[in-house]
Amino acid sequence: MRICVYENQSQACHAAAVMIAAQLIKKPNSVLGLATGSSPIPTYQELIRLNQAGVIDFSQAVTYNLDEYVGIAPDHPCSYHRFMNENLFDHINIDKANTHIPDGNAPDLAAAAAAYDKAIVSAGNIDVQLLGIGRNGHIGFNEPHESFIHGCHVVTLANNTIDANKRFFASIDDVPRQAVTLGIGAIMNAHQVVLVACGASKAEAIRATVCGDTDPHVQASILRTHPNAILLLDKEAASLI
Ligand code: GLP
Repeated sequence: MRICVYENQSQACHAAAVMIAAQLIKKPNSVLGLATGSSPIPTYQELIRLNQAGVIDFSQAVTYNLDEYVGIAPDHPCSYHRFMNENLFDHINIDKANTHIPDGNAPDLAAAAAAYDKAIVSAGNIDVQLLGIGRNGHIGFNEPHESFIHGCHVVTLANNTIDANKRFFASIDDVPRQAVTLGIGAIMNAHQVVLVACGASKAEAIRATVCGDTDPHVQASILRTHPNAILLLDKEAASLI
């Protein structure tokens, strides 16, 4: 695992955009694994700028998002479907038929999750997986657990995740208690993993990711065993390593 520490969030997020842009230039039909949360927003802004400037082309790109809440409609203001449209897809020349987000409203969530995994394998696995990190070390919505769960699955959100994400909702009672998340398998099968973490609130999660044993109670620590993973950090997120 490589670690790069930048002066500020803007530089760390810019570096992530450069890596995704380079991948798209090398392989226009890349399979991109995308993330939500506030961390990737500056990265998406830079990708939008590069696309609108004609530097990168998304017309052949295929995307798979990490996760979605269970039980909120795709057009709900806090759904990850809406987040991706507003923060990236509506502003680039991607074919929306090539964009994929787990279905948190499927009548059979387990079957839909299994189909999502199959589709990623059929697409040749993810070329570049962009990740943020939760304060408890979660990636996607893979919460601290006794083991690493390989497949896409339904997860009950940890209390500290609900608390961290309440800022996006009218009240904590409105935060869904469950989500569908890509498992650790698809993330570890990605050819390259790029994790962005910024701010002091991520420092402990980054310390636990980088130091000590690979531990499913800190799901991001599995990235230490990935052959091509990079952490892009600002100084605050890197302050405990
Ligand atoms: C959510 C998402 C994660 C994301 C995390 C951190 O829990 N499921 O993929 O990494 O939030 O979000 P932020 O970047 O806003 O701190």
